Amino acid sequence: NWTTTNVVEEQVALIREQVGDKRAICGLSGGVDSAVAAALVQKAVGSQLTCVYVDHGLMRKGETEQVEKDFVAATGAKLKVVDAEKRFLDALAGVSDPEEKRKIIGREFIRVFEQAQLEILQEEGPEVAFLVQGTLYPDVVESGGGTGTANIKSHHNVGGLPDDIEFQLVEPLRQLFKDEVRMVGQELGLPEEIVQRQPFPGPGLGIRIVGEVTKDRLDLLREADAIAREELTAAGLDRDIWQCPVVLLADVRSVGVQGDGRTYGHPIVLRPVSSEDAMTADWSRLPYDTLAKISTRITNEVADVNRVVLDVTSKPPGTIEWE
Ligand code: XMP
Repeated sequence: NWTTTNVVEEQVALIREQVGDKRAICGLSGGVDSAVAAALVQKAVGSQLTCVYVDHGLMRKGETEQVEKDFVAATGAKLKVVDAEKRFLDALAGVSDPEEKRKIIGREFIRVFEQAQLEILQEEGPEVAFLVQGTLYPDVVESGGGTGTANIKSHHNVGGLPDDIEFQLVEPLRQLFKDEVRMVGQELGLPEEIVQRQPFPGPGLGIRIVGEVTKDRLDLLREADAIAREELTAAGLDRDIWQCPVVLLADVRSVGVQGDGRTYGHPIVLRPVSSEDAMTADWSRLPYDTLAKISTRITNEVADVNRVVLDVTSKPPGTIEWE
């Protein structure tokens, strides 16, 4: 019979059998799947696991700390944090095109992650043979069911390593759906903020700034986003909405009036949606009082923002994200 306790026990036994006395690496994204996969492997083989978190500087307020502090506190996992903010910002400088941004962020992410893997290999030796991934059942079905290996090439000029390293994959969530993964995470004692986290795109806030991505714009958007999330949580609406992207129209300015002066600031877009699977979505009919509170707070508390607008487009024709 299916219980989270049984799932945890079964997976822990399987992971122990697979990994043996070798070592494993797991990349953490800040999301539910990688956190639960890592927590399971940590429970199974403890310090034989090293987690890697690439801080690309595009996360929301408090999310990096959530991984660095709360995840580590809950699991006791060994964590390597790579601060790559400057590298990502440099690579994104001058780029406004959404696809271009995605390509750059994806490319840099792989480079930084591979570099981290190579460093761990250097520190821990050839015992490192496994890569943990938070693949879910729907991903398995979509990709045809195969399991396998991951290659990395050491074109980074680090001495003493083979040219081509092959990792065996450890995928302890392959039989689970998202809601089951959340239950397993809860059973493993992961913080609620991680277990109940709504979807958030890999490229992060980089694709929620319409226009060039800069540190100042990211900081501004982080503030606005934190306010929206805080108020949605306070109003008890987290379970009603699928996710609520908060978007900065960085290349748009409009006239406003604040205090006794004219302002010329940016609009912030709220994009709350309800959905089953993100393939289609409808805009959430949020209570006016909650919208009013978010709008008042953002325009009062976030410098350079003088307008908050609500996206009332379903998907299709609009996508959930603006880029
Ligand atoms: P769209 O904007 O296509 O988004 O309606 C559908 C869902 O996917 C998320 N999303 C991403 N997730 N990497 C991700 O991991 C991405 O590049 C990406 N782009 C969109 C989006 O947040 C929504 O849940």
